[in-house]
Amino acid sequence: MSIVAQLLFACPYDTMGSRMKGMVFLSFSIRDLTIENKLVLAPMAGVSNNAFRVIVRQMGAGLVFAEMVSDKGLIYNNEKTIKLLHMTEDERPVAQQIFGSDLKTMVEAARFVEMNTNADIIDINMGCPVPKVAVRAQAGASLMKHPDRIFEIVKAVSEATKRPVTIKIRSGWDEHSINAVEVAKQAEAAGASMITVHGRTRAQGYTGQADWRVIKRVKEAVSIPVIGNGDVVDGKSAKQMLEETGCDAIMIGRAALGNPWIFKEIGQYLKDGTIIDRPSDQEIRDMMIRHLDSLIAMKGEHIALLEMRSHGPWYLKGMDHASSLRKVLSRTSKRDDFVVAVDTFFKIKV
Ligand SMILES: Cc1cc2nc3c(=O)[nH]c(=O)nc-3n(C[C@H](O)[C@H](O)[C@H](O)COP(=O)(O)O)c2cc1C
Repeated sequence: MSIVAQLLFACPYDTMGSRMKGMVFLSFSIRDLTIENKLVLAPMAGVSNNAFRVIVRQMGAGLVFAEMVSDKGLIYNNEKTIKLLHMTEDERPVAQQIFGSDLKTMVEAARFVEMNTNADIIDINMGCPVPKVAVRAQAGASLMKHPDRIFEIVKAVSEATKRPVTIKIRSGWDEHSINAVEVAKQAEAAGASMITVHGRTRAQGYTGQADWRVIKRVKEAVSIPVIGNGDVVDGKSAKQMLEETGCDAIMIGRAALGNPWIFKEIGQYLKDGTIIDRPSDQEIRDMMIRHLDSLIAMKGEHIALLEMRSHGPWYLKGMDHASSLRKVLSRTSKRDDFVVAVDTFFKIKV
């Protein structure tokens, strides 16, 4: 790309002289919290734990979301739930997501997070489609059916904590009830400091395509920051979402699985339009071991190896002849065996 083309690409003004939406290299703010760039890691249950969040921050994400935790799990001191709150300074700013539908327990859970963690933001899950959350707990995406309930929860939680309270929603419950704009307005009126919109309905789950037009409509309807989410997979799609929707930042989920480099890749593309090289084999190998070791430090060898049975294959996605390694990793329960298998695959001498 020529110097002129690069300058034009990076210029916050388009050739018509009008201000381009979503100036990609700038920070944005959630209340008085400044986020250094527009790249956000999505909350992902079983993935977005402290080990992965630290990696992703170092790879260039400006803000990371911790996976959802149950309000009741927190207030009844469920050991597994409490462990999910583990955070460290080097990952901040970080948002802790909670889910639930009961006013009293949501308020108590938010207070618990405020008192026991350094989370910069308390986020409320209003998008989870899984039956355990959306049906049994009447939480997650099922709240989308009750905007008045959303108002009450956001108001009660915002009044109970000094931390910014944010929500993550879907476009609606199903295609007959696309109500993200109404929900967003209710949440803003109730005191929400930011809204993330995943452009799919609950009925869609993770199928089909995210409808970014809903994100645009929400952005136009509220004055608080809006994060766009759904189907950002590379620099091009990231830039497109920022420009098409005018959202303040973009959230990346599935495309970060086994690919924390995506934040570096998108950051570079948004800066000057260049597409950086994929990580080398050595970098992938080192990242796999680093990820494993961080998980071991957090959860012990047994659980860490079990979790790497998902992460391992994600790191190997698209690589030739990786099926034999995938098979080995699905049975490995010792760190040393994992390292030997990975090194043998990458033919790296240690
Ligand atoms: C494995 C997995 C776990 C997820 N867990 C959560 C969660 O805990 N809370 C939440 O709000 N969304 C959760 N999501 C949804 C993502 O945050 C995100 O909204 C969705 O994947 C769409 O973004 P993407 O197209 O970038 O993946 C999860 C998604 C995946 C794939």
